Amino acid sequence: MRQGENTSASTLANNVVWQTSSVTKAQRAVQKQQTPYVLWFTGYSGAGKSTVANAVEQQLFDLNLHTYLLDGDNIRHGLNKDLNFNDTDRTENIRRVGETTKLLLDAGLIVITAFISPFRAERQMVRELVNKGEFIEIFMNAPLEICEGRDPKGLYKKARAGEIDSFTAIDSNYEPPLTPDITLDTSIMSVDECVANVLAYLRSAGKLQEQPR
Ligand code: ADX
Repeated sequence: MRQGENTSASTLANNVVWQTSSVTKAQRAVQKQQTPYVLWFTGYSGAGKSTVANAVEQQLFDLNLHTYLLDGDNIRHGLNKDLNFNDTDRTENIRRVGETTKLLLDAGLIVITAFISPFRAERQMVRELVNKGEFIEIFMNAPLEICEGRDPKGLYKKARAGEIDSFTAIDSNYEPPLTPDITLDTSIMSVDECVANVLAYLRSAGKLQEQPR
C-alpha cells in the first residue's frame, strides 16, 4: 500500500483546511467589468447544445465579455476521460463539471456549458453549488425524432444497432427540466434565433453590460 492510500474521506475532510486568497471573486469580476454566471445547456445529443453554446460564447466575446465554454465531448477527452455513460459516471461527470464551473465563476468568468446532463438532481446540485441567480438553465427542447434524424456523429444509428450501450433517450433516461430559465426548440428556431433569445433573456435580467473596448 502506498503512503496515504488508507486515508478516508472523513479523515481528509477533518484535516484539510480551506485556504482563503487575498484576491476575491468580486475583485476578479470587477476587474473584468462583469458579473459572473453560467449558461447551462441541457438536452439530447443532437439537440444543438454545442452549436448554440458556441455561437452564444462568440457573441458575448464580441461584446468584450470574458467567457469560457465547457463542452461535454471535449471534457470527456481530458478531465473526465476516465468516465463512462452509466448513471453513476454521468453523475460524477456533472459533479466535476459543476465544481469546475464554480472555479471559473470564482475567476470572474461567464461560463457556458454544453452537457446532456440528463438528471434533474445533478442539475439542481450545480444550481445549489453556485451563488443564487448565477445558474441559468437552458433546455434544448428538440424532439427526439429530429435529433435522431440529424445524427451528426452517427451515434443514434450505432445505439439502435446495439453497438453503444446506455445511449440517452434510447436506453438511458433523460429528465427534462420542469422550470428551465430559457427553452429553445431547435427544430423550429435557427441558431441565430436561439442566440438572440439568450441575449434578450440576459439583457432583460440585467446580465448584459456591454463593455467598452
Ligand atoms: S452526460 O450525459 O454525461 O452529460 P456528456 O454531455 O458529457 O453526457 O457527453 C455526451 C456526448 O458523448 C454526446 O454528445 C455524444 O457525442 C457522446 N456519447 C458517446 N456515448 C454516448 C452515450 N452512450 N450516451 C450519450 N452520449 C454519448
